[in-house]
This record gives sequence, structure tokens and C-alpha cells, in this order.
Amino acid sequence: MTTPRRGTVYVETYGCQMNVSDSELMLGSLASIGYLPVDAPDGADVILVNTCAIRDHAEQRVIGRLGELKRYMKADTVLGVTGCMAQRLGPRLLDRAKHVDLVIGPDGYRALPSLIEGARDGLRATAVDFDLEEHYEDVSPRRFDRVRAWIPVQRGCDYKCTYCIVPTTRGPERSRQLADVVRETERVVAEGITEVTLLGQTVNSYHDGAHDFADLLSGVGAVPGLRRLRFTSPHPNDFSDRVIEAMATVEAVCEHVHLPMQSGSTRTLKRMLRRYTREEYFDCASRLRAAIPGLSLTTDVIVGFPGETDEDFDETLSAVRELAFDDAFTFKFSPREGTPATRMPAELTVPDEIASDRLGRLIAAVREGARGRNLSLLGTRHEVLVEKVSRRGELLQARTREHRTVLVPGDESMIGAYFMVELTGTTGSTFTGAIVSERAALPLAV
Ligand code: 5AD
Ligand code: SF4
Repeated sequence: MTTPRRGTVYVETYGCQMNVSDSELMLGSLASIGYLPVDAPDGADVILVNTCAIRDHAEQRVIGRLGELKRYMKADTVLGVTGCMAQRLGPRLLDRAKHVDLVIGPDGYRALPSLIEGARDGLRATAVDFDLEEHYEDVSPRRFDRVRAWIPVQRGCDYKCTYCIVPTTRGPERSRQLADVVRETERVVAEGITEVTLLGQTVNSYHDGAHDFADLLSGVGAVPGLRRLRFTSPHPNDFSDRVIEAMATVEAVCEHVHLPMQSGSTRTLKRMLRRYTREEYFDCASRLRAAIPGLSLTTDVIVGFPGETDEDFDETLSAVRELAFDDAFTFKFSPREGTPATRMPAELTVPDEIASDRLGRLIAAVREGARGRNLSLLGTRHEVLVEKVSRRGELLQARTREHRTVLVPGDESMIGAYFMVELTGTTGSTFTGAIVSERAALPLAV
């Protein structure tokens, strides 16, 4: 018998939190059999690029990066492309990039060790089958963040919005068992983590056969020591009264919902197959706000969807103004091969100049609204959790329960602790704050 060859492994992640979480699983699984995770690609024995396929731009970045990575590779380095772009392109990616050895979709990570072994013997391979039982239940993730944990509770998506590639790349929706999610939460809390974000493509449609998302919030929220519970991303249609009630009553659930709207025009929403009207979206936002005082609301919006007229876009602008979002991720529609939106009549295509102009106006409207609201918050006090040293390095980055970013003075020893801060300044989107009192990092539920 030959001893398995191990070595160092480097993972680079693109795209959403679900991908970050998948990268943690891949690293955990490889570390458990003896691979050493490293944080740079130079000379690594295995390089994995975990990719996103949501927009063409995301894929182009990866293509560029794969070219760059060549220079870090030794003759025997194994290069694997994983995630949504791998699933979408499959063997086409092996043809296109000759230095890529492995192409593995989101349900194929269990085979990573054996595929890497094969690749070391020169076997290039693709693994892109869906596995509806796959939750990687027995794999311990190697977490990148010491303060917050992301816990996947659902994989795949059954909604099939007409612009979206996710149902193709991540397959049908399936939920983990509630008891497994609670166990994982207990484990991360035992490691000193006090904030958990539950992940799913339409996370509030969670159902494990016996429990819905309300049960999940109650079950996870009852884990002693957990102080903050978040989730992303919900679908407006899955906010049942039960779920909203659980959000309002489970103390750990934070006062923030990221609620993708996509468009403020019922006509466009219909073409997108979002399954709600403008009025129904507004109603969902009001029900959430009525139940949860101080709730902050953020969203995703797409402009330039096929057939979007000036009037449709004006409705999106007015919705953004009326709903007073705290922030919004804004995107130009990107046609994804094989999705229903690409089969709409060519004359419905919105020219790029028009889409760019709309995007600019939308961003301005989001900023203007957020700026006004943020200015009005100056002088108020909030509990923050310190996450890390800020990007510029002199201040610490902390977050309120409403997910607002506050930069505070301090040193690394404060990371992971809670403080009360007074908001002293704002750039329009983020805040600076002064610490007014220290709060012991006592668990909420003991
Ligand atoms: N083009 C542009 N934006 C898209 N999104 C999803 N698919 C597309 C696409 N084809 C956006 C949606 C979604 C977010 C994650 O990405 O707004 O909520
Ligand atoms: Fe894509 Fe729609 Fe599913 Fe979200 S709900 S992942 S936008 S198909």
C-alpha cells in the first residue's frame, strides 16, 4: 500500500456567504486527512478556486485569476475549480483551461480527497452530479472567522426566478435536520463564537419535514451563549406569521432583514417570476417593521431586466425611496446561459447605456436615502460586536444588531467583545463611534 501524498492546500473564494461556508467545509475535510491549509497560493500543493456564476462579471474575474495562478504553480500542483461556475461549465472548463485538473460542483466536495489523489497521477476529472442527501453533516468546517459563524441550513433553490442561474448550479432545495443545526450552533458557541448567521438560498422556506423556519429560529436561538442570530437570504413569500412571530420573540434574532426586492414594478416582477407584486413586497416589509421595532431593511435590486421600461424603472426608484432601505446591493441584469430570461424576445433587451444610466440613478437614490437616515442616527447609542481590525488598520470594525458598521478606536484584544457605543460621525454609509461603556461578553441565554 502506498501512503497517501498530502501537502499544503490553498483555497480562494468568490461570491456569496454560502461559498465561504463551502470553502470552510472543503478545508475542514482536507485538513482532517492531513492537508495543511495555507493562506497564499505560492508553491501550494493544491490550489482550489471556489467560484460564483451569478453574473458574467463574476466568471470573468475567475477566468482572469486562473491565468494569474499559473505563475504560483509548481509542476505537480493540483488546480481545482469548485462551486457554481464549475457546476455550470463542467467539462467545458477542462477544455478551456488546460492547467485546471479538477472541476467540482457544490455537491461534489466529498470526493475531493480522492479526486486530488487522482489528479496527482495525471487524471483530470469533473464531478458535477447533484446529491439531494448531501449536507456534509460529518465534515467539521475549518472556520475563517473567530467572531462570527456561518451555518448552512438549506442547499439549493426551488424558486427558479427567470434571471437566476442558482437553481441550475446548486440544484433543488433541501434542508438540514433542525437537531443538526442546533448541534453545530452549540459547537461554535463552545468555541467562543456568539454570533451565528443561518444560510440558505431562500432560507426562510426552510423545512426539515417536521420543523419550519420559525422552529429553527427558536431552536437555535435557545442555545445558551448565543447572543446574535442572523439569517440570509429570505424570500418575501416565506415570511409567514409564525416566522415573523419567532423573529420578534427570540431574543437573539437581530433587528435586520436582507430582503431581496429585485424590482419595484409588478410587471417586471412578473417577468422575473418572483411570485409577488410590488404591493405584496411592501406589505411584507410593513409586517416585518410592525413586529420588530427598529428593524433595518436592506435589499438586492436588478436593473435592465428584459422589457424594463422607464416607467418600470421609476417604480423601482420610488419603491427604494418609499421603503427607506438602509442599504441595497444593485446589479445590472446579466444574461445567464440556459435561464428563461435569455429566451425572451430580443427586442425586450435593455441597451447597456440605458441599464448603466439606471444603475447610476439607483445607486444615487440608495445613497441619498441612507445618508439622511444615518445622519439622523448620530448621537444615539448601540451595542456593537467588534469583528476585526478595519481595512485601513487604525480602527476596529464593529457592528450593531441592525448590521450597521461602526468604526471604533481600540486594539486587537477587543475583537469578539461587546461594547456600547455612541455614533459620532458617518460617511453616509458607515459610522464612527465612541465607546461609552464596556459590556461583559456575557451570554444572553443562560
Ligand atoms: N443578473 C444580475 N443580477 C443577478 N442576481 C441574480 N442573478 C442575476 C443576474 N442574472 C442578483 C439578485 C440576487 C443577487 C444575489 O444577485 O439581485 O438577489
Ligand atoms: Fe435565484 Fe430566485 Fe432562487 Fe434567489 S430565489 S437563488 S434569485 S432563483
